[in-house]
Amino acid sequence: MLQRTVRRQNVQIGKRRWRPIAIALLPILGIALLYLLLPDPGPRIRDLPIMDTELYPIVGSLRAPGLNAPLAPGAGNSGSDGRAAQLGRKLFHSSDLTPSGDMSCASCHASPTPLTAASPNLPELINLRFAHWFGSGGDTDSIGAASLAALENPTHMASSRLFIVTQILGPWRRDYEAVFGNLPSELIGSDALPSAGLPAPPLLQWEVNVAAAGLASMGDSHLLDNIISKAIGEHLAPALELSRRAFDQAPPPPGWVAAYEKMSPSQVAAVNQVYANVGVAIGSYLRGLVAFDSAFDRFADRWRENIAAAAALGDGFTNRELIGLKLFVGPGQCINCHSGPTLTDQQFHNIGLSQLGETIMGGRAVGSVRVLTNPFNCIGPFGQKLRREASDCAHITTLNTEDIRNLGAFKTPSLRNLAHRQRFMHDQRFTTLETTLAYYNELTDRVAIGQRDPALRPLGFTSEELEALEAFLNSLSSPVRDLNEKSRH
Ligand code: HEC
Ligand code: HEC
Repeated sequence: MLQRTVRRQNVQIGKRRWRPIAIALLPILGIALLYLLLPDPGPRIRDLPIMDTELYPIVGSLRAPGLNAPLAPGAGNSGSDGRAAQLGRKLFHSSDLTPSGDMSCASCHASPTPLTAASPNLPELINLRFAHWFGSGGDTDSIGAASLAALENPTHMASSRLFIVTQILGPWRRDYEAVFGNLPSELIGSDALPSAGLPAPPLLQWEVNVAAAGLASMGDSHLLDNIISKAIGEHLAPALELSRRAFDQAPPPPGWVAAYEKMSPSQVAAVNQVYANVGVAIGSYLRGLVAFDSAFDRFADRWRENIAAAAALGDGFTNRELIGLKLFVGPGQCINCHSGPTLTDQQFHNIGLSQLGETIMGGRAVGSVRVLTNPFNCIGPFGQKLRREASDCAHITTLNTEDIRNLGAFKTPSLRNLAHRQRFMHDQRFTTLETTLAYYNELTDRVAIGQRDPALRPLGFTSEELEALEAFLNSLSSPVRDLNEKSRH
């Protein structure tokens, strides 16, 4: 009897407790019901029906084995690569190479060594030994030639080859001769060598059809009006005025060209030989800098040993990065251009960015003319030495400077080591990876010049998908290794 009373009381207490809970739950149930009645917002991450068997070879293509292998000895017989690289490293960090004495390559590029973080504004000088063209328009075709161009470029080091050769004859002589042997006799004891001097810059111009296509496709009407009125005022063809602005060459400082022209032909040849060796040295150093130890690379290595991608996930490469990778190769079609271990097809594409400021960036249309007229290109007298690898130079002998698809086309950049960068694209217009991807998501810009690559389509990704894509790109960042350091032991 007593037991039954206690049980009944318990039941009643239970009932009383449940009522407020049920009342509290009502609004939640209401919201849930409303949610079911509203139209489906769609999946926040789409179905990515990419099978492991499809993905595996693609991951393999982004992670070729042997990327960190010590360098094979290069072509050329000018001292061992290791010693040239050591000299190159010293030159890269030295402010002896400019008349002002206040700048080195490392001032802008920071020190792309494992010890120091690189400049967040510029692409790091890494994995360059796999690149075919240098600079966003591909103005040069070897790391050595790119380094020489940086030395004389008025917006980079603003130096001159005569100044640099004078420095080699002076404080750098011992370092130089230890790698490349005796300096040419034409230069020894020659007080007559001017202390600064440059060859006259070549007159660069577009073919009329390229310039006309440029005018016809220019997106900025203010700039176009300006070109046409200037051309009319000066009785020029507008195409010529456009060409002039696109090449926009700063004149060398007064007296430099005259000083250069005063030298005898044998002195000129000797100066160029020593100058080219400076490019060989800096190029050898830069060839050794690689960055292939990212979270993605570790995932790819683990996958070699596992049968399923999911089993290879781990530190820094989780399911989110895997989804990002699938978006990258699948609906994003990024891999059409950003392919191979350095995530670039080594080609030039117009992705349709809008005009920024008053400068006309012709991209590859300018770069192709520049590389063809560069005396340090593959077919030049020092071409093979600067490349460090034998080449038939077909990339120069068959180069078409009249292809109008080159207008506004820029080199597909590597996507490695973007995580700490603060500027993106050739003109550094975007300040975050997020805004860079937002560009691809919408593609609403009015193209500055030329035509946007017809293969590009707005991604229309959700914010979750963009985040996953960004996570994948961030997983491609790696510390920098200097392979020359390793091969010295
Ligand atoms: C004033 C800043 C500045 C200095 C100094 C400078 N650079 Fe650069 N460098 C740049 C910029 C900006 C770019 C990108 C140019 C472009 O995309 O066309 C670049 C590009 C390069 C590239 C091509 C990279 C690629 O991925 O294609 C190489 C190689 C290079 N520099 C080497 C050097 C060397 C060697 C020196 C010293 C002799 C040097 N730079 C000095 C600013 C500088
Ligand atoms: C048609 C070829 C092409 C496709 C497809 C393409 N890209 Fe690019 N990408 C380029 C080129 C060319 C540039 C450089 C443009 C410039 O500098 O003006 C670039 C630049 C970038 C940059 C800036 C890198 C830097 O160093 O500044 C990022 C990030 C990038 N792409 C990511 C992607 C992603 C993600 C996708 C896929 C959604 C993609 N790209 C698809 C050609 C392409």
